Amino acid sequence: MRPGPVYNPAMPGKVAASILSADFAYLADQVKLVAPHVELIHIDAMDAHFVPPLSVGPVVVESLRKVTDLPLHCHLMVERPLDLLEDFAQSGADIVTCHLEVLDDPAKVIEHAGRLGMRAGLAVNPDTPVDGVCPYLEDLDRVLVMSVNPGWAGQDFIETVLPKIEAARTEIDRHGLRVDVEVDGGINERTGHRCLAAGATVLAAASSIFKASDPGAAAARLASMAKG
Ligand code: DX5
Ligand code: ZN
Repeated sequence: MRPGPVYNPAMPGKVAASILSADFAYLADQVKLVAPHVELIHIDAMDAHFVPPLSVGPVVVESLRKVTDLPLHCHLMVERPLDLLEDFAQSGADIVTCHLEVLDDPAKVIEHAGRLGMRAGLAVNPDTPVDGVCPYLEDLDRVLVMSVNPGWAGQDFIETVLPKIEAARTEIDRHGLRVDVEVDGGINERTGHRCLAAGATVLAAASSIFKASDPGAAAARLASMAKG
């Protein structure tokens, strides 16, 4: 096996709690349970076009903004993200990530998000080559490597994305940039460790945190693994 980047515990990995698997009737409580252990809240917005399901949007972000100081990262699985940026900014989103697959001009979205006071990320589906993000790295907060096909929580990790994590990390380091590589889908302590070893800096997890009997303890275990 080709040696990949070595996970350096001096640069601890971060955990993003993805609320898609949370109990939405008690969303504030669920976020408060995991907040002491995670660095970000990951909010999956789906429009029933880019992906079949419909999920949540700025109204939920606005409510969460009142109950946590953690950065709110909105992962937009939508066909026309540009049209929604202003609403997400007004709702209190800190970071907005759009899918490369739907963008004619990624620079335009990144620039518009910045003008609205948000940091921007670019996401790639498991079948999309990661090189498409390279021209924009300097202006990005994060590269989001999907490790399941987007749309649903609870799927199995697709390990063929590991070389994409390595490739993104290599390119970021080659330019001396501080861009996070976030991995999203099927993340637990085992798969998360492999992603960190490949060069990821952020692990987004929904089911392994919120479907656990004790979400706070599950978040703490994932975070302690990520911190080495
Ligand atoms: C999938 C979403 C993920 C999802 C991850 O389309 O983007 O953020 O919540 O869920 P798990 O961790 O259960 O795979
Ligand atoms: Zn997501």
